[in-house]
Amino acid sequence: MKNILVTGGAGFIGSHTVVELVGAGYNPVIIDNFSNSEQAMLDGIEKILEFKPKFYEHDCRDTEFLKKILHEDSIDGVIHFAALKSVGDSLKLPLAYYQNNILGLLSLLEAMEACSISNLIFSSSATVYGEPDTLPITEESPLKTATSPYGVTKQMGEQIIADVSQASKTLRSLSLRYFNPIGAHESALIGELPKGTPANLIPFLTQAVAGLRGELVVHGNDYPTPDGSCIRDYIHIVDLAKAHIKGLEFIDTQSPSFYDTCNIGTGKGASVLDVLKTFESVTGKKVPYKIGPRRDGDIIQSYAGVEKARKILGWEAEKSLGDGLADAWHWQESLANRA
Ligand code: NAD
Ligand code: WQD
Repeated sequence: MKNILVTGGAGFIGSHTVVELVGAGYNPVIIDNFSNSEQAMLDGIEKILEFKPKFYEHDCRDTEFLKKILHEDSIDGVIHFAALKSVGDSLKLPLAYYQNNILGLLSLLEAMEACSISNLIFSSSATVYGEPDTLPITEESPLKTATSPYGVTKQMGEQIIADVSQASKTLRSLSLRYFNPIGAHESALIGELPKGTPANLIPFLTQAVAGLRGELVVHGNDYPTPDGSCIRDYIHIVDLAKAHIKGLEFIDTQSPSFYDTCNIGTGKGASVLDVLKTFESVTGKKVPYKIGPRRDGDIIQSYAGVEKARKILGWEAEKSLGDGLADAWHWQESLANRA
């Protein structure tokens, strides 16, 4: 397996995965419609790699176009990142989320089937679990009713791939359920580019420290956790990108019709207040923040069981929360220097 189509490869996770793919000897081919990214990410990839991976500015919902490039670029496997990803926007624009995330996946599966492409890695999310009954969250934990159309698109996406794989004579696939990706490439040439006011903690935090936002509001300190703030499993983006390489190697050894799911996290939970303290200690910067009310729909605690990833992929996170926060800050500084 050599040539890998990376849908959404100009985005946050896709761009880092493209870099790791090249490091592991693969040839990534990117398709992205720039709906949530821009040329600057491809420029960053090019600076890191010292060459330009093949890129198509195009929408994944164009099945005929996908068939054409799967064939012309002799694609051996696909990593499907392309999706809209904001929980809040999905509540306001459910139709756009179903149209983009579900139709994009169906289009890809149809094109892969037509071209007999076997290997697929799908970007799923810890959001499929909802509020867990027990911790850590393992792949056997039940999937609760999703609380947003975005979450539904990930649950439906997994189900669609499971069904199509089961009926297929060629497809073998793996859904990776990411916990909370943070950080940036150590070069600070690629990172997260949130459009508008960030909803996620780390981009909001770095923008607040950079003076681009007001105070960070900690959404609640009265939860039943040691310091009262919510707990998450923050996984460094480069570790997360590397899990995709392991995923490709793993599915390449499986039989047709294979389908499985795997958590990608560190296995360690950190509270919002832990994140702020760690950020201050690794960067020496003071975080302007205040305690506010709870945010609707927040899960109290979420962290991954990581045994399955260790066992089937031979993968585990290597970088710390502090590494992720320091790299997120360097990325924020590099953005300020470009402005
Ligand atoms: P991102 O928005 O940075 O990247 C997604 C990319 O896909 C963007 O570059 C966007 O322009 C592109 N895209 C969207 N729809 C497209 C379409 N129809 N055709 C072509 N390109 C399209 O998001 P990300 O953080 O890199 O997330 C990548 C994937 O991982 C998504 O599927 C997301 O749901 C999933 N995920 C993300 C997180 C997270 O917190 N970042 C957590 C769990 C899962
Ligand atoms: C983390 C913690 C907030 C902002 C979301 C999606 C999920 C996944 C990742 C894609 C929470 C707190 C946040 C702020 C705060 N994405 N917080 N002040 O909620 O775990 O997950 O992103 O699949 O689907 O739901 O991440 O970064 O929004 O929040 O106190 O200004 O930080 O309450 O406890 P979350 P997050």
